[in-house]
Amino acid sequence: MTESFVTNTDAFLARRRALHEQLSGPVLLAAGEPASRNYPANRHRFRATSHFLYFVGRPLAGSAVLFDAGRSTLFTLPPDPDDALWHGPRPPLTELATELGFDAVRPLDQLDAILAPLREKLATLPTQDAPSARWLSERLGRPVLERTGAALGDARDAALADAMIALRLCHDDAAVEQLRHAARVSAKAHVAGMLATRTDGTESDVHAAMLAVLRKNGLEDAYGPIVTVHGEVLHSDDHSQPTRPGDLLLADVGGETAEGWAADITRTWPVSGRFSPTQRAIYEVVLAAQGAAIAVAKPGRRYRDTHEAAKRTLVEGLVALGIFRGDVDGLLDRGAAALFFPHGIGHLLGLDVHDMEDLGDRAGYAPGRTRSTRFGDGYLRLDRDLVAGMAVTIEPGFYQVPGILSDPRRTDPLGADLRRDVLAKYADVRGIRIEDDVLITKDGNEVLSSGAPKTVAEIEALMQP
Ligand code: GLY
Ligand code: MN
Ligand code: MN
Repeated sequence: MTESFVTNTDAFLARRRALHEQLSGPVLLAAGEPASRNYPANRHRFRATSHFLYFVGRPLAGSAVLFDAGRSTLFTLPPDPDDALWHGPRPPLTELATELGFDAVRPLDQLDAILAPLREKLATLPTQDAPSARWLSERLGRPVLERTGAALGDARDAALADAMIALRLCHDDAAVEQLRHAARVSAKAHVAGMLATRTDGTESDVHAAMLAVLRKNGLEDAYGPIVTVHGEVLHSDDHSQPTRPGDLLLADVGGETAEGWAADITRTWPVSGRFSPTQRAIYEVVLAAQGAAIAVAKPGRRYRDTHEAAKRTLVEGLVALGIFRGDVDGLLDRGAAALFFPHGIGHLLGLDVHDMEDLGDRAGYAPGRTRSTRFGDGYLRLDRDLVAGMAVTIEPGFYQVPGILSDPRRTDPLGADLRRDVLAKYADVRGIRIEDDVLITKDGNEVLSSGAPKTVAEIEALMQP
């Protein structure tokens, strides 16, 4: 059954008030333009920019919010009979004003006249695609960037970005409820995926079963689902491969609520329902690495500490299995972790699955911190001190990537301490990732995605016929 899940207007009012308090000039935030494929009538479901959703909660295509002198005004399309024929009726603007708690809601065609005296002072944020950026550039009379990770050139926009980051880094109660809901439903999708896995099936069977749970509960995909027996391809979007008895299947699938709040969960399970001894051994190492990272995900700790904790536990585990030889500190210095875990431990989670990555490392990295230039560590998307109210993912993995294991730049520093003869015994482990959504709380953390089975015993018990 669909659980309806709507944030109270008071929460949006509080967010708008909090933005006004930080502003020194007017701001225009656009929802973005609707997207179509190949020709205009082939419209795809519209998803508004996350900054707009944060204050509005509804994907009102083509709309914009003006924040000026303490007042919040929504500009949107009024009801139109021709449009209603194809897309359904839109509510009258007065109704929207009451329902969404705006000081005023005005027809979109009044926007340019109202902006005219404000234009020189207006700040905005990068938007999600080129047509939306073009629309915003025309309104502001200056170029506005499309979802840039690059530095924001305009000082007004940069100050607004910093204000948004300050607001969105720590989630309010309403946002936490949305994130909990997204994680709860997405965890159920993982259970359905495990149950739908067949030794004579395909990845698509699992993909379909997982999406069915999301859709039945009113969730869209928060990102392109990854459902693959080739977990070593980190973000594979192919779902066509057969699922065979000896395979591990990696599913990185999360939904987003109607208001846009995301879950991001990965589980890896044996197609047969039983891990082989070698799969189980590596799985336990990754699980231990994840546990070590979650244990340090607390207020006052640096997120990078979770990455380092996972790397250390992973390398310790691989030494115990005989895949590496030598002392752990030395192995870590020589890049041992990145050989099998070549990405960062995770990222911020919120309205965007990689929250606020449209603002580049400005959101993920605290002032004065920059990305490492080391292989693997350079993919760490977050390096801030953790604070209660932040949501992050913790997602270590182990992957045998042919392109890495045959690259002398990566393997030469390890020399014979990478025991290829031992590694060869683990050929049935191509890729494992275990990813949870973790809310930082006053006393530690809460794993929002704990409904998805994770231990070997839990997964095997669920999958027995
Ligand atoms: N689902 C993408 C990620 O885990 O970052
Ligand atoms: Mn993730
Ligand atoms: Mn993921």
